[in-house]
Amino acid sequence: MSTPPLASGPQGPDALRPLLDTVLDALHEGAEARGGPLPAGGPEEVARRVRDAVGDVLPERGSEETLRILVRALAEGAADPAHPLCAAHLHCPPLAVAVAADLAASALNPSLDSWDQAPAASELEALVTRALARETGAAEALVTTGGTESNQLALLLAREAHGGVRLVHGANAHHSLPRAAWLLGLPDPVVVPAPAGTMDPAALCEALTEVHGPLLVAATVGTTDAGLIDPLPEIADLCAGRGARLHIDAAYGGGLLFSDRHRGKLDGLDRADTVTLDLHKLGWQPVAAGLLTVRDGHDLAALAHHADYLNADDDTEAGLPDLLGRSLRTTRRPDILKIAVTLRTLGRAGLGELVDQVCAHAAEFAELIAAHPRFELYDRPVISTVLFRPAEATDDDIAAVRRTLLHEGRAVLGRATLDGRRWLKATLLNPHTRPGDLAELLKLVEGHTPR
Ligand SMILES: Cc1ncc(COP(=O)(O)O)c(C=O)c1O
Repeated sequence: MSTPPLASGPQGPDALRPLLDTVLDALHEGAEARGGPLPAGGPEEVARRVRDAVGDVLPERGSEETLRILVRALAEGAADPAHPLCAAHLHCPPLAVAVAADLAASALNPSLDSWDQAPAASELEALVTRALARETGAAEALVTTGGTESNQLALLLAREAHGGVRLVHGANAHHSLPRAAWLLGLPDPVVVPAPAGTMDPAALCEALTEVHGPLLVAATVGTTDAGLIDPLPEIADLCAGRGARLHIDAAYGGGLLFSDRHRGKLDGLDRADTVTLDLHKLGWQPVAAGLLTVRDGHDLAALAHHADYLNADDDTEAGLPDLLGRSLRTTRRPDILKIAVTLRTLGRAGLGELVDQVCAHAAEFAELIAAHPRFELYDRPVISTVLFRPAEATDDDIAAVRRTLLHEGRAVLGRATLDGRRWLKATLLNPHTRPGDLAELLKLVEGHTPR
């Protein structure tokens, strides 16, 4: 084999073009072969097909056919979030334009740990993060790998600002918050009850009175299980009264910022010290596209770090931007490129329309369920998550229906336990879904539920 071509440089595009044709054909073939939202046959069957496609992982001599074979195998065995019946998780179908931009990021391969590896990408990141920070009333924003890393950084910045902090979160909070407290060696968090799915302000008030020392309260905008929004203004008032720091995990609901119709649900977001946003949820980005906005830019001093080969003092004094303090990672992809391209291509109105569409789909689906004699609706959706259950099914039936649909590759639904009962969960993030798709989903569930 001659020396394989590179993706960047003047010859890069010529080398990539035929490979892209191969990739696009293989994606198409794989999706056709799958024929549904998920490969049929369950884990053993999918694993067997992958093993057959891969064969020897590191053969003595390679083969150019590999790109087509493995991309096809991955596409055939994918859970496809662009299929309208793939609706379990906060796992969005990425926009074509964002994926195309991500290809350019891979080809150019800038690394955002020093200016000499990412001259234009670092300026783009500075511009876009500042603009997104302003959307939440903050001064700065950091790019992260998603909600989990954003929540970890929020706790770290709080700990550094107060010289130690105790986390107070709702029982409805994402699991990454208590995990971050554990990772950072903080005391066990105080868990505030959320009997109706959102943090109870009276219980929070009690906790803030009883627990001494510096506190970080974490509220949620868009709970993972039900897409509910904590009462932000009340929580912000309580934090202000107690002198507690406020973090808002808006990994899911932050996308509502783009919508004129739904932005009002985020009142109080601008009172947070830090906000988690995650555009690989309600922002139609390929993974990873997380952000943490930070109201007081001085908080970022906690991340300042020196490594002579990346940000020597004399280089910084001479005007080379110091990037190392913008993340705990060192080598870092320019995830900002796909975000910037999406924001500028769709504009606020275009993104807002996508948000409105998925929220409208969820409202329509909820109507369909409420009007159906054999189904029970948990509640009207606040964002785009709908919880429902066949009226006479047991919790075990519900788990079994979900697994059967997965095994058959017919539909991908999630599950959640609320009010002490198990529910099926549809997280609608596909703006191309049609009312007929949702009716079909309900029919499938009905057909798989034991009578
Ligand atoms: C509310 C909330 N916060 C944080 C996260 C974690 O995000 P990620 O999976 O991008 O790390 C999730 C994931 O679903 C979430 O729902």
